[in-house]
Amino acid sequence: MGRPVLRTELCDLLGIEYPVILAGMGPVAGGLTGPVATAPLVAAVSNAGGLGVIGGAGFSAERLREEIRRVRSLTDRPFGVDLLLPSNYMGAAAGEMPRDPRELIPAGTREALKKIVEDLGVPWQEMPREPAAEPRRPRTGGMSDEQMEVVIEEKVPVFASGLGSPAPWLDRLKANGTKVLSLVGNVKNAKRVAAAGVDIVVAQGTEAGGHTGRIATMALVPQVVDAVAPTPVVAAGGIADGRGIVAALALGAIGVWCGTAFLVSEEANQPDLQKQRILAATDEDTRVTRLYSGKTMRNITNPLIEAWEAAGIPALPMGLQGLLIQDLVYSCRKAGREDLLMNAAGQVSGMLNRIRPAADILHDMVAQAAHILARDLPARVTAVPES
Ligand SMILES: Cc1cc2nc3c(=O)[nH]c(=O)nc-3n(C[C@H](O)[C@H](O)[C@H](O)COP(=O)(O)O)c2cc1C
Repeated sequence: MGRPVLRTELCDLLGIEYPVILAGMGPVAGGLTGPVATAPLVAAVSNAGGLGVIGGAGFSAERLREEIRRVRSLTDRPFGVDLLLPSNYMGAAAGEMPRDPRELIPAGTREALKKIVEDLGVPWQEMPREPAAEPRRPRTGGMSDEQMEVVIEEKVPVFASGLGSPAPWLDRLKANGTKVLSLVGNVKNAKRVAAAGVDIVVAQGTEAGGHTGRIATMALVPQVVDAVAPTPVVAAGGIADGRGIVAALALGAIGVWCGTAFLVSEEANQPDLQKQRILAATDEDTRVTRLYSGKTMRNITNPLIEAWEAAGIPALPMGLQGLLIQDLVYSCRKAGREDLLMNAAGQVSGMLNRIRPAADILHDMVAQAAHILARDLPARVTAVPES
C-alpha cells in the first residue's frame, strides 16, 4: 500500500501533513521529570507529519525558551507551545502575598489530607523551603505572564491555551503570524474564545486525560462546531486510533488533539512507572479528581484519590492546592510511594498495550483512518438522499 493521504483544512492552516496534533502535556508525578511533551516527543510528532506541541506549563520562562530552541534544532517543521492561563490562581488573592504562601492554606485542609496520607502508611513531611526575601505580589494576568512573553519573543508557529482564555495576548500573537488554539470543555467557553478571535477551538470531552470537563466528546464536538462556525474545531478526548479520527471528522471537526495515545510513546517524558500503569489500566481505571491541582483532572486512579474523594474535602484554588500537593509529593517520594502521585491519563488507557515510537503511533492512526474512510465506509452507502 502507498503512503496514506489524509488531508483536511487543518493541514493547510498549520502547514502540516496529517490532521493530528500532539496535546501539549505538562508534568505528571509531582514534576519528577518535568513536562511529558518535551522536545524529543514534540519533534518526533512534527517530523512524522503531525503537529508537536510543547507542554510548557511545567517550565519556567527561561527553561521554556531553551525547549523551544531545542525543538527548532530537531525539526524545521511547525510546532506549538501549550500553556495554562487559569483565571483563578492562588484564589486571585488581592494585595501582597505572605513571604511563605503556604500560610494561605487553611489548616483544616492540610490536616485532612495529612490524615488520609498517614492512613495509607505514608508519614507526612513538609518540604523544606526558604521563605521569599520580600513579600510577593500576585501577578495580575495569572501564573503565565513571563512564559507568554517568551512565546511571543520566540515567534512560535502555534500557541495553545489549555485553561482560560488567550484573549489578552491575541493581538501580539497574531502580529507574529502565530496560529492560536484554545481548549474548551463546553459550548459557553467555546463561544467566548471564538468571539475573542482564536483561529481554532479545541473541543475536549470528559474522556480526556488531564484537566477535563463534564461533557463527553461525542456530544460536545458537534455542539461546539455549530456554536462557533465558521471558526474551525479540532476534537480531543478519547481519540487514540484511526477510528477516533474518523469519528471526529464525522462530528464536524477538522482534526484531532491527542494526549493519552502518546503517553505510551518511547519519547514521552515521564517515569516508566506512569507508563506501565497506563498500559495496565482498563477502561474503568481512571477517575476525575481535584486532588492534584484544584481543578478537575482525570488520572489513573489510586488509593489516595479514592480516599480523598470519599472524604469529600473541598479542594483549594489552583496554585494553593498545588502548594499543598508539594508536601504530598515530598512525603510520597520519601516513602517510595510514587504510585500515589499524579498519573494523568484518559479513558482510552484501556486500549493501549505497548510502548512504541511516536511516529509509529501517528502513522498507524492515520493509515487506519484513511482505510476506514476510503474502503470501509463508502461501501455502507447505497444511495445518498437528496437534501
Ligand atoms: C499527562 C497529561 C498532561 C496534560 N497536561 C496538559 C497541559 O499541561 N495543558 C493542556 O492544555 N492540556 C493538558 N492535558 C490535556 C491534553 O491537552 C488533552 O486535551 C487530552 O490529553 C486529550 O484527551 P486524551 O488524553 O483522551 O487524548 C494533559 C493530558 C495528559 C494526559
